[in-house]
Amino acid sequence: MIPIAKPYLTKDEAQAAYDTILTGWITQGPRVAEFEESFAKYTGAKYAVAVSNCTTALHLSMIVAGIGKGDEVICPSMSYVATANSIKYVNAKPVFAEIDPSNYNLDLEDVRSKITPKTKAILLVHQIGMPCDIDAFNKLAKEHDLILIEDAACAAGSSYKGAKIGSHSELVCFSFHPRKVISTGDGGMITTNREDFHDRLKLLRQHGMSVNDRVRHTSNKVMFEDHLEIGYNYRLTDIQASVGIHQLQKLDWILEERRKIAMQYLDAFKDLDCLQLPIEREGYFSNYQSFSILLKPNCPIGRNELMQKLLDLGISTRRGIMNSHRETAYKTEYADIHLPVSEMAQDHSIIIPLYIPMEQNDIDFVITKVRELVSR
Ligand SMILES: Cc1ncc(COP(=O)(O)O)c(C=O)c1O
Repeated sequence: MIPIAKPYLTKDEAQAAYDTILTGWITQGPRVAEFEESFAKYTGAKYAVAVSNCTTALHLSMIVAGIGKGDEVICPSMSYVATANSIKYVNAKPVFAEIDPSNYNLDLEDVRSKITPKTKAILLVHQIGMPCDIDAFNKLAKEHDLILIEDAACAAGSSYKGAKIGSHSELVCFSFHPRKVISTGDGGMITTNREDFHDRLKLLRQHGMSVNDRVRHTSNKVMFEDHLEIGYNYRLTDIQASVGIHQLQKLDWILEERRKIAMQYLDAFKDLDCLQLPIEREGYFSNYQSFSILLKPNCPIGRNELMQKLLDLGISTRRGIMNSHRETAYKTEYADIHLPVSEMAQDHSIIIPLYIPMEQNDIDFVITKVRELVSR
C-alpha cells in the first residue's frame, strides 16, 4: 500500500529524544527554549512560543488578540475544523467566507463583504501549505482595524514574497502533527513580533505562572511563583522539542525533496484538461504539505470512484479538505450557509500520496494509474 503521507523521522530524532529523556528534564525546559529560538530564527520572527499543538496555538492567539463573546472572526469553512473551533473556544463566532478555487485560500472580496461592526479578526489559513496573499489581507485588516491571525498549521517552510511564513503577522500558528512537513509527534508554535503577545502567550501556556521552571531551577535564591491569570496546560515537552530541533535543521532539504515530487506530478498531469492542479503564483512558495487535485466537471470519473479504484490498486488518497459548516458540530447553527466554491472543492478534490523518501516506482505508479483512470 502506498500511504498518503509519512513523517520523515530518522535515528537523529530518536537519539535526541533518548538523550533528552536521560537528562531528566522532560518538559518546558532547555530543549523547548532552544527549539523556540531556532524556529524564530528560521522564520525571521522576533519571538516563537512552543505549545502542545496548533489548536492550542490558535486558542491562545484568540485570547491574546482580545477576541471574546459577541465578536466575529472571518475564516474559511474549508479548513480542518480546528480553525473554526479555536474561535468557538473564546465564545466568538466564526463567519465563514468563500475560498478561491485556484489555491483553496480565502477569497479577499468575499471576506471584505462579510466584515461587520462585530468583526474583530481575520483568520487566514495557508491551506495545505500554499501561502495566502498576506499583503492584501493585511491591507484589508488595517483599513477596518482588524487583527490578522495566520493559521499556518500546514505551512512551515512555505514563503510569501521571499519571506518565510511566520514573519509577516502578529500571530502565526504552526502544527507539528505527523501529517505536517516536520513533526514532533504532536506539537505547535506561535510566532510573533510583539513582545507583549510573546510575554502573555508564555504565561497562558503554563497556567499563568509568574516564574517559569527554567528560571526557578537555575536561581540561587528561593523563588515562589504566583499565578497571574487563569491559564492552561498547553506545554510542549522537551522530548518533543529535541525532535523538533532536528526536524527544523532538515526542513529546507525536506522541502526540496517534497517539491521534486510535486513537480513530477505537475508535469505528468499538465496535459489533462479534466484536472485542476495546484497553482503557485510568482512570489509564492509552497511546501506542498499535500498535493491536491480538483476533478473538473468534464472528468470522466467521479471523485469517490477514483478514490476507490486507487485504493483497490494499493494507492491511499484522501478526500479534499472538509467544510466546517457541513460537519455535525456546526450544521445546525450554519444551516442557512451555502458556500458553493468551498463545497465544490471539498466534493471534487482528492489528495494523492506525497512523502519523503518516496520510491520513484511508487511515484510512477501513482502517475500512471491516476492518468489511466481520469483518461478512460
Ligand atoms: C489548517 C489547520 N489548522 C489547525 C490544525 C490543527 O493542528 P493540530 O493538530 O496541531 O492541533 C490543522 C491540523 O490538521 C490544520 O490543518
